[in-house]
Amino acid sequence: NGKTVDGIRVTGSPDSVKSAWETMTRSQKGFTVWFTGLPSAGKTTLAQLLADELTKRGHEVEVLDGDALRRQLSRGLGFTKQDRDENIRRVGFVCRLLTRHGTVAIAAAISPYRAVRDEVRAGIGNFVEVYVQTSLQTCIQRDVKGLYKKALAGEIKGFTGVDDPYEPPANPELTIETEREEPKESLFRILRRLEELGYVRPLTETSSTPEE
Ligand code: ADX
Repeated sequence: NGKTVDGIRVTGSPDSVKSAWETMTRSQKGFTVWFTGLPSAGKTTLAQLLADELTKRGHEVEVLDGDALRRQLSRGLGFTKQDRDENIRRVGFVCRLLTRHGTVAIAAAISPYRAVRDEVRAGIGNFVEVYVQTSLQTCIQRDVKGLYKKALAGEIKGFTGVDDPYEPPANPELTIETEREEPKESLFRILRRLEELGYVRPLTETSSTPEE
């Protein structure tokens, strides 16, 4: 009588066995982590760190990075509000498919408009919005791609933060203040939040699983 799940013997009604199974495999369910913030805020860095860590922990992970997607999925789209919203809807659509099939989708896109982010959230469900909060001043100093310089010189029009809006999330699952902590500390806080939300198993529990 009973069933062995993950090396643990479970006895009881089929329903309680099923729920024990669901609890144990909970950490493998798909979800989307959505990084939003100004250009050069640190979205790509955090997305990559998180992807590496979740991969190590046995999750299937896919990173959807704004810059790369604009060369592929969203080639031809520009930076008007309409085109940005279209870009975000496409990225959100892919995240939804991945999430539905048990993958962790990690999106890193400016996604400046709150309404379309909320639309994507509603479509996905298992959605963790991480606001990468960095002051405009610091972003301009970092200027990873030299685009702020061009925007400030008037060579690029409609650049987010300079002459195009950025609407911060009203209720993100997490806010990361990149000026106050090192990327590793931010990663730690993101992981802790994902554990709290039940998407990721705390390390102590996974360290003895058979696949490791
Ligand atoms: S979003 O607004 O649609 O979410 P996304 O994250 O995909 O933007 O792409 C942003 C990247 O496009 C920036 O990192 C930058 O390299 C480039 N870019 C080119 N023009 C602009 C612009 N006007 N505003 C913001 N980013 C721009």
